[in-house]
Amino acid sequence: MPTDSLTLTPGPVQGTLTVPSDKSITHRALLFGAVAHGPSHVHNPLRSGDTLTTLRLVRDLGIRVDETEDGSWIVHGQGLHGLREPETVLDCRNSGTTARLTMGLLAGQTFFSVLAGSPQLRKRPMGRVSEPLRRMGARIYGRDQGRLLPLALVGSPLQGIDYDLPVASAQVKSALLLAGLYAQGTTRIREPGPARDHTERMLRHMGVPLTREGNLITIQSPEQELTPLTLTVPGDFSSAAFFLAAGAIVPGSRVLLQNVGVNPTRIGFLQALKAMGAQVILHNPRESGSEPVADLEITPSALRGVTIRGDQIVTMIDELPVLAVVATQAQGKTVVRDAGELRVKETDRIATVVTELRKLGAAIEELPDGFIVHGPTRLKGAAVWSHGDHRLAMALAVAGLLAEGETHIQDMACAADSFPGFVETLFKLRKQ
Ligand code: S3P
Repeated sequence: MPTDSLTLTPGPVQGTLTVPSDKSITHRALLFGAVAHGPSHVHNPLRSGDTLTTLRLVRDLGIRVDETEDGSWIVHGQGLHGLREPETVLDCRNSGTTARLTMGLLAGQTFFSVLAGSPQLRKRPMGRVSEPLRRMGARIYGRDQGRLLPLALVGSPLQGIDYDLPVASAQVKSALLLAGLYAQGTTRIREPGPARDHTERMLRHMGVPLTREGNLITIQSPEQELTPLTLTVPGDFSSAAFFLAAGAIVPGSRVLLQNVGVNPTRIGFLQALKAMGAQVILHNPRESGSEPVADLEITPSALRGVTIRGDQIVTMIDELPVLAVVATQAQGKTVVRDAGELRVKETDRIATVVTELRKLGAAIEELPDGFIVHGPTRLKGAAVWSHGDHRLAMALAVAGLLAEGETHIQDMACAADSFPGFVETLFKLRKQ
């Protein structure tokens, strides 16, 4: 049963904002820091539902993590072979990244572990990770022959593999790279599209022999222990996307987003906005650790429909729900294809986005691997539901800033899986 709701009326967003820190980078800093040799200093980590889940899991593996007064984390890494057998089931709650990366990390240990998750996560496919891990020698047991949580892992010696990823997925790629840290010989992974590369950047930074040639990534078990990290986590582009969207389509808006990660494998939505005719300016591009960051300024403008497909999809996979909202205000047709992966996210995001945006009056058609939005349409407030999916909840809130009358969004608290304080932030920038 939905437990909470948000009511919105139309109005612009104006002001300067620092978005929450990057979720993908925070998960990785915890997991990789746990197997580094010595303390890693993680400044400005994201404290959201999903990343706090990884924090708890790392502690269950015997790793001390101190939280300092300024909100930083010190992860007391115990080296590649310093994790402890967990005494309890490792609960990944709603977090797919936690579950999949942890599978890769634990497959090659010398101990037993069990990964569990929420009802939402228990529906999501894990075979994409367990199948290649088994080819490396992993022993994984679970429902549907190890394709669904809960899963039991009996740590085993691993062998490197040569593997063509069937889907462009950073979670699967990262799981195999983590297993590759423990495997004998070389692990070679070919990816069909440019999935986010935070794992490669961070592991290289820690001294891991990892190389890339085109779409082929090669990793070897390092002879030396991993160097601990010192990093400041940049703002999450995927969280910034909701305010970029609002800034682009709600008349009278002007938003400046500070310190946003602009890793090229993450900013497909920014490219799409530009192709649609959005007025977005990148200020002060710079490097932070091994990641590029910038400040982003956006104001509304006349938009036109675009077609998004192929390699573009993976670089904006989490932003497609809010792209659908933007497309309702663009002149002409916006077509999203090759995005079947949306069906195995926190919800079937093709079905849920189409269902909920139609309630607001959007002209949106469902395709097996995407959707088509016909614009522009005048959205009308209605009662909608997030289905417990954080990205859908926030995309609907952006629509609520535009829709005539009142928009009631049920089950809004899930926004905190990735964006704690989203509603408060929205109201701070919201002008009547
Ligand atoms: C993530 C990868 C993506 C993305 C998710 C975070 C990551 O999932 O949707 O929100 O941190 O590696 P897939 O790799 O399954 O596409």
